[in-house]
Amino acid sequence: MNKKQGYERGNAGDRFKHKYLEKFVDLLIPTIKKDFLFLDLTAGYWDMEPGSQIYAGGSKRVIDKLEQNNISYQAVLFESQDNIYKDLEEKLQGRQNIVVCGDWKASKDVFKDVSPNSLVFYDPTKIKDYNGFFGHFENILQKEANMFLWAGEEAYPEHQEIINQIYDILNNSILNYRDFLRRQQLPFGKTRTEHNIVVSRINLNSL
Ligand SMILES: C[S@@+](CC[C@H](N)C(=O)[O-])C[C@H]1O[C@@H](n2cnc3c(N)ncnc32)[C@H](O)[C@@H]1O
Repeated sequence: MNKKQGYERGNAGDRFKHKYLEKFVDLLIPTIKKDFLFLDLTAGYWDMEPGSQIYAGGSKRVIDKLEQNNISYQAVLFESQDNIYKDLEEKLQGRQNIVVCGDWKASKDVFKDVSPNSLVFYDPTKIKDYNGFFGHFENILQKEANMFLWAGEEAYPEHQEIINQIYDILNNSILNYRDFLRRQQLPFGKTRTEHNIVVSRINLNSL
């Protein structure tokens, strides 16, 4: 198997996702005001472990762009797996404006400060994790925060229901959205569709 296939970080799905995440941040940058808030609910690794070729995680990519553009920001990175949490803490120690927390669902008032001057990134491992997110989704949209949502869907009715629910909520909001799809053929005639949904009040046509 090719080294960059399967679930290895930096695989084709990651590269596709990160391309649109970065394009989206580039589009947002001219609209950003000081004290931007970046909430990454499912942060994952900062970058690959020593020994591998460095492949930056999504949160590092966003933060690097904010810093390259001299934007003042606060970032809260949530990560529930102990070893990954420790990796983030170790790499980010001393960075006053970046906080590392555990399971986002265990934190109170996670979305209290979100506004149009925020980005909420939700990139769960499993599509069923949206069930715990839907209770907050409309609140985030009402606050007009920017969002990047990733959802990996296979041809199961329950997956399609979750995608339909995401679309229904987005269609009832005043924000713009675009879904960048990555389709894959799986063995035994199955298919998988990865959704990379960008949500904002700014115009997304140029993405
Ligand atoms: C697909 S990875 C994230 C990759 C990352 N967004 C990137 O672009 O590099 C999902 C991560 O979310 C974490 N996770 C899953 N549920 C979580 C939760 N409720 N709170 C915080 N982290 C969670 C997992 O441990 C995993 O590391």
